[in-house]
Amino acid sequence: MDEKERIEQGLACFRDDVRATHAYPVQSAEGMVKLDVMENPFRLSAELQRKLGERLGAVAINRYPAEGTQRLAAALARHAGMPQGCAITLGNGSDELITMLGMACAKPGTVVLAPTPTFVMYEISARYQGQRFVGVPLRADFELDGPAMLEAIKEHRPAIIYLSYPNNPTGNLWDAAVIEQIVRAAPGLVVMDEAYQPFADSDSMALMQRHPHVLIMRTMSKFGLAGVRIGYLIGNEALIHEVDKVRPPFNVSVLNAEAGMFALEHVDVYDAQAAELRAQRERVFAALRAMPGIEPYPSQGNMILARVADAAKTFAAMKARGVLVKNSSAAHPALANCLRITIGSADENTAMLAALEASL
Ligand SMILES: Cc1ncc(COP(=O)(O)O)c(C=O)c1O
Repeated sequence: MDEKERIEQGLACFRDDVRATHAYPVQSAEGMVKLDVMENPFRLSAELQRKLGERLGAVAINRYPAEGTQRLAAALARHAGMPQGCAITLGNGSDELITMLGMACAKPGTVVLAPTPTFVMYEISARYQGQRFVGVPLRADFELDGPAMLEAIKEHRPAIIYLSYPNNPTGNLWDAAVIEQIVRAAPGLVVMDEAYQPFADSDSMALMQRHPHVLIMRTMSKFGLAGVRIGYLIGNEALIHEVDKVRPPFNVSVLNAEAGMFALEHVDVYDAQAAELRAQRERVFAALRAMPGIEPYPSQGNMILARVADAAKTFAAMKARGVLVKNSSAAHPALANCLRITIGSADENTAMLAALEASL
């Protein structure tokens, strides 16, 4: 066999659906105003960078993660106000928690259900676990379609229902009464994905306490540590115990755990950043409302979805002016000609608004 045949032999081992798909796209943003993936725009002050460097330098990187991860889990549980009788498990970002949940529930014929459009990883992860994904379209105003959700739950009996709350990419929270109905009708788990909780007037802890099949997933990414990769899942002890069994044993590195602890020790800094981003979101929303040729949707996240006449053209023109947003058009028919604009610092938002106005 020659080299080419050996490579073919290797490729033949991969699943057809894996070979037919693309890796998750990460846009290059070198030198641009980067407003595409809901990152927190703020760096630590020079003083805190120095202190963090000292802390990280002192970490025993020769050892596998152990107590440091447990300390971080306990600190996150306190930070989130985890109720009695609940437990927490950590992921390398909440992306990994979605994979872990899928893996732990991947019985033959299992269905994962979510309202759509929503965060794409629920569907991608379900597919890779051999599960069927059922997307139930949101209404035109991006509110939950209660009757359609209840009907789909009855028909498909999903093992996992994901509710991104606030929802990515639409940015909104949904009617609490409809969520309560969905939770009551769910035959399996309901995961409240609160990735954008730092910017929203929402907290699903009370819902989880009333209904122990509800799990709460959060992340330190939007809080300000997207590069560090720490997600956490809180829920009834018995349920979290099962999820934890499929967790790769050392999935949160000692450096990540230390950086996470450091951030929680400076939670006032991050709270102030979130408050600033919420204020900037209202400023950007008002500016978009006043701009002809664009329709923004109200948001409780650190992003705003907005519809324009020709998203591909506007996206390209903004990029040419050095501002990177996300063209969400292709993700779902309901998002036709929609741009998803992450809220940045005051200066970044000023640059974004100028580029957008000139690009419409
Ligand atoms: C709703 C939602 N959940 C989870 C994630 C993933 O976050 P992480 O960085 O923790 O993997 C995202 C990322 O954008 C998201 O929008």
